[in-house]
Amino acid sequence: MKRLLITIDGPGGAGKTTVSRKVAQRLGYTYVDTGALYRAVALAVLRGRCSAEDDDKLVEVCKCLAFEFKDTARGFVLFMNGVDISGEIRTQQITMLASALSARPVVRQYLLDVQRRMAKDGGVVFEGRDMGTVVFPEADVKLFLYADHDARALRRYKELVANDQMVSLEEVSETIKRRDYDDSNRVLAPLKPARDAIRIDSTFLGIEEVVDLVFRHIGDSL
Ligand code: DC
Repeated sequence: MKRLLITIDGPGGAGKTTVSRKVAQRLGYTYVDTGALYRAVALAVLRGRCSAEDDDKLVEVCKCLAFEFKDTARGFVLFMNGVDISGEIRTQQITMLASALSARPVVRQYLLDVQRRMAKDGGVVFEGRDMGTVVFPEADVKLFLYADHDARALRRYKELVANDQMVSLEEVSETIKRRDYDDSNRVLAPLKPARDAIRIDSTFLGIEEVVDLVFRHIGDSL
């Protein structure tokens, strides 16, 4: 059977991560969370105490990084230079820094190459913002998953609280609004559906319903 390249783009809180993981698991594919890569670069920048506006320093930091998504008992987990960093990259500080860094051309170019290398054997589900538009315009299946702002804010809030983070719903709602604006309005690779992407509104759908819809579309390409 053909090993497809599947892209799932969309704003935060639309259910991309859970859906992408489930789709990859059911197909026996690798799951690549590209937002985690931007967050990982943010963690390295933070640790290196370098400015998010200093391109030379950013290139230097990126040069020292090696990424791998390992299939563990907890599913696919991101390792940076051999260390599991999945817990450390989920703080609010990293969230905002990752968004700022994602507007820097040097960071995008670096991660573009990293992502394309990860796709070379096919059989991968890539989750992100510009997978279908910029990184893999030739992907076999392109999906764009979205939902109302309030639904996304509530989902993200519940996720953070479940992970013992002290946040209010208002705070999460504001962060999502700001990130939506920044991600959609940056000049480089803004968040938007590819022209040929299948759009799925998850506002009133449960995860399994979304996954079923996704498989209905993938079915035609397998
Ligand atoms: O999906 P996430 O919240 O983990 O993503 C973190 C940030 O990375 C987000 O603000 C936008 C950026 N990002 C991006 O610009 N392009 C991608 N393909 C994935 C994420």
